Parts: sequence; structure tokens; C-alpha cells
Amino acid sequence: MQTQVLKADSRGNVKLAADLIRRGETVAFPTETVYGLGADAANKAAVAKIFAVKERPAFDPLIVHVASVEMLSAVVSTIPSMAWRLIDTFWPGPLTLILPKRDEIPDIVTAGLPTVAVRMPRNEVALSLINEAGVPIAAPSANSFGRPSPTRAEHVMEDLDGKIAMVLDGGPTQVGIESTVLDLACSPPAILRPGGVSRECLEDILGEVLISSGSEGRMLKSPGQTRQHYAPRAKVLLFDGKCRERVVAAIREKIDELKNGNQIGVMVPEEELFHFTDDVVAMSLGSFTKMEAVASRLFETMRALDRRGVGYILTLAPPRKGIGLAVFDRLFKASGSQLIEVD
Ligand code: TXA
Ligand code: MG
Repeated sequence: MQTQVLKADSRGNVKLAADLIRRGETVAFPTETVYGLGADAANKAAVAKIFAVKERPAFDPLIVHVASVEMLSAVVSTIPSMAWRLIDTFWPGPLTLILPKRDEIPDIVTAGLPTVAVRMPRNEVALSLINEAGVPIAAPSANSFGRPSPTRAEHVMEDLDGKIAMVLDGGPTQVGIESTVLDLACSPPAILRPGGVSRECLEDILGEVLISSGSEGRMLKSPGQTRQHYAPRAKVLLFDGKCRERVVAAIREKIDELKNGNQIGVMVPEEELFHFTDDVVAMSLGSFTKMEAVASRLFETMRALDRRGVGYILTLAPPRKGIGLAVFDRLFKASGSQLIEVD
């Protein structure tokens, strides 16, 4: 199949994409977090194409995207008062809620679960596409399963060229990291995947919120949170420790150990870039004092290092607060859940 890449700033192109969705095809489109691979959420055969194209296991459920509260009511069977408060504050935006599903949502979307993940994206193109299609759109990130999520149309093409009907190119995404997935069925509510809305912001509205991101290796409530995820082809080594100087020294030592015959990539905060010179491919994540900007370039930097053909990516854990928690989570998953602690 030939994959068309069309600019999203033309209404005609958004209409073409919406037609494809209504006809049961898959289309990649921008959201404020990452690009999604969308299909009509009520059309089983169309949703099956998403799983096939991404090589995504059937046990990993999808997020359904809506453009209005009326559409939300067609997806979920009840909306508790806590959900309303979150919707009022954070929608449209990068917050996904897990709510009881309506029978109209086929099991393939939710991997057989009685609940459905749902969010209203903030991106204008995404909202117009959903409105033009007139149906809720099921969409995971538009990458091959396990790869870093795409934050540009080019990244979607790297993974899915020839496998999907169309990519709507809306330029780079703003947040750069996926939505926060929140489970409201438990008390206190639990974050199943940290993302674009921080724990602190949720706690302002809800009081205590737990983190259940699965780093303990137990059975996961969010089936997509497998141990190895968001990973570049290179092996990621994630360093952490209280003293920044010692962490940097440990990374330098590891470079010397691995250098023999290996091309090494390094992904560090701007402040530490000067420690890494000609012997490695060093890329800045931006300043750790501006964590939103770090989040927005994280996946892109992983892909860029992959294109340079490095065998290893050595990187440094950010502070786990605000959106830094989501950045840490993606790096941790990319490392195969192995943190190298430096004391
Ligand atoms: O920002 C985002 O969330 C992007 C854009 C495209 O919206 N989408 C995205 O989708 O990241 P995906 O499929 O890559 O991640 C969905 C996550 C997975 O970890 C999945 O296991 C979890 O949501 N999930 C979906 N339905 C669930 C459910 N009923 N219960 C628990 N977790 C669920
Ligand atoms: Mg994904």
C-alpha cells in the first residue's frame, strides 16, 4: 500500500483523512502528545488493522479519542463525579481516564477488559479529524510496537511507510511524551502511566494519587506497560545517583569500557554536554531545569541516535517530579527497566 503524507493545515486533507477513517482504514495524525494511528473505534476490522500494522500484542488495549462530552457518553457507561472534575480541568489535554465501557465498544479495543481508556486531545488537527469523521477514534501511538513514539510525521514514516493509508502531517508535537493514564476505579486513584499531566497537578484536584507504573515487575493493571518499551535499537544504559559529578564520572568510565569497536551515543542534559567530546556521539536533551522541553525532544533524540548507528546510548535520570517522572519512566522502560545506581 502506498502511504500518502498530506499537510494537516488544509481542511480538504483533514476531510480525506476522515473519509478514510469512516471507510475502515487507518490514518496517522498529530495529537499534542505524540502521533496516533487512528481507526473508527466501533469498527472491529479497522481496529484489527492497527494491531496488525504495529505488530502490537492483542492483550494491549487502545485509547479512544473523543472530541466532545456527547461522544464520551457513547464510549463509557458511567462518568463518576471525580472524572467530571478532571475533565473540567484537564480536557482537552494529555490525560487519559480509565472508565467502564459501553457495549458498543468492541472487545478488541479494550483487550477484553470491562473498562476503556479515553481522552480528548488538545491538538486542533486531532479534534477536527474526530469531528469530521463523526466517530470516536481508537489510536495508539503511531510507531511499531516497542519503538519510541513518533513526535513528527517523518518518525511515523520510518516505522509504518507502506503499511497505512495516510499520515496527516501537522508538524512536531508539543508535549512530546504520551498522556498520563489514570485509573479511577481504585482508591486512591492510581497513575498507570505517568505522562503529560503531572502527578502534582492531579493531586491538586484529587488529593493523594498513587503511582502504579509496574517497575516492580508484578502483574500490571495497564497491560501496555511491559518492561521493555519506547526503546531505540541501541542498548540504553540509564545512570542515576544523588551526586551529578559522580554520575557523570561513572558514565565516562563506562564509555572507556565499551568503546572498543563500539560507536557510543550519549544523551545528557545541556549542562553536562561539555564532558562528552569526540569519542562519542553526544546529544543534548536540553536543560534539566526546563523539563517540558526535555520531554518534547526525548523520543526524537533517541531516534536521531539510532540513525547515527550507535550500539549503546548512555543517559542520565532526571529528577522524578513534575513531567520529569514521565521522562524518567520512558528512559527506564527504554533501558529494559535496569537502573545503574551510582553512590
Ligand atoms: O498520548 C497518548 O496517550 C497517545 C496519543 C496517540 O493519544 N496514545 C498512546 O497510546 O500512547 P498507546 O496505545 O501507545 O498507550 C495506551 C496505554 C497502554 O499502556 C495501555 O495498556 C493503556 O493505555 N490502556 C489502554 N486501555 C486500558 C485499560 N482499559 N485499562 C488499563 N490500561 C489501559
Ligand atoms: Mg505506545
